[in-house]
Amino acid sequence: MKITVLGAAGGIGQALSLLLKMKLPAGFKLALYDVAPVTPGIAVDLSHIPTDVVVKGYAGDDLPKALDGSNVVVICAGIARKPGMDRSDLFKFNATVIQNLVSAGAAICPNACFCIITNPVNSMVPVAAEVLKKAGVYNPQKLFGVTMLDVIRAETFVANSQGRAAGTIRVNVIGGHSGKTILPVMSQVGGFEFTDEEAAQLVRHIQDAGTEVVEAKAGNGSATLAMAAAAYRFVNAVVRGLMGEDNVVECAYVEGGSQHSRFFSQPMRLGKEGWYKVLPYGPLTQAERDTLEAMLPTLRDEIRLGEDFVLKPEQFQTASEKKAEK
Ligand code: LMR
Repeated sequence: MKITVLGAAGGIGQALSLLLKMKLPAGFKLALYDVAPVTPGIAVDLSHIPTDVVVKGYAGDDLPKALDGSNVVVICAGIARKPGMDRSDLFKFNATVIQNLVSAGAAICPNACFCIITNPVNSMVPVAAEVLKKAGVYNPQKLFGVTMLDVIRAETFVANSQGRAAGTIRVNVIGGHSGKTILPVMSQVGGFEFTDEEAAQLVRHIQDAGTEVVEAKAGNGSATLAMAAAAYRFVNAVVRGLMGEDNVVECAYVEGGSQHSRFFSQPMRLGKEGWYKVLPYGPLTQAERDTLEAMLPTLRDEIRLGEDFVLKPEQFQTASEKKAEK
C-alpha cells in the first residue's frame, strides 16, 4: 500500500511523515511531496530510520510521481494562521492549493482515499469534492476532512480534568472544524457526569484550542505536532480499514447523508472502500442541541463557500485576474 503526504516539508507534514515512517506496517511505501526543494532530502533523512517502510521524496514538478499508485493521499499543504486570524482567512490561498493538488490526484490516483487537513477544513473538503466531481471520480466514501485534532484535544482535556490516565477516554466530536462548529458530545462520554458549567468550560477550551496554540506560537504558525499525531491516528484508522480490519471507528468530516448539512463530522466505520457507515453519536442534551442548531448556519455557509469556489470561480477572481481575462 502507498501513502502520499502532500505538504510534507511543513511542520505538520514532517512530523506526520516521521510517524508514518516509524509506524506503518512493513512493506508500505511512503511518498512525500512538497513544492519546497528540501523534500527529497527529508525523505533521505527519514530513510535512515530502520523500518521496512520505503520512503521517497518529490518536489516541484514531480507531483504526479508522488501520487502514482497511491492508496491514501493526505493533504496538509497550504498556509497557517497567525494571531488575530480566523481559519476562514486562509480560504482563498488554500482553496487554490487544494484545487490544484486534488485535480492532480483525480487524474493520477482517482481511487485513493483523500484526507484533508488543510484549513479551513469546513470549506476545503467541499472544494475537494467539487474538483473530484468535475473530474468524474468523486466517491464520498473516500473523501475525509480530518477533524481528529478536536477529538484528541477533547480526550486529553477530559482526562486531565477528571484525573484519569490520558488515552483512556473516547469523545466524539461532531459538526466541523472551526470555532463554534466544533461540538464535543460531552453528555455521551462514558463514566462521567459533568455539570453544565464543567461541560461548557471543556467545550470552550476544545473550540478555542487551535487559537490557544496560534497565540502561544506568537506569529510562527499554528498546531503542527498535535495535528500530526491526530492525523497519524486517523490515517492509521483509514489504512486498517482498507486492510480489512473489522470495527475501525473514528470521527471525520464527510458527505455522509447528515440531516444537518452536506458535510458533517461524526463517528463512522472505516472499511476496505473508505467509510461505509456513519454511526449515531447518542442523544444530545438540550444545551448540545441548542449549540448544534446555532452552528449550522455558519457550517452551511462555509460549505457553500467551498462549493462556489469551484462551481462559480468568477466570484473569487481578483480585479487583475478579471482584467487579464478580457
Ligand atoms: C487547530 O485546530 O489547531 C488547527 O486547525 C490550526 C488552526 O489554525 O487552529
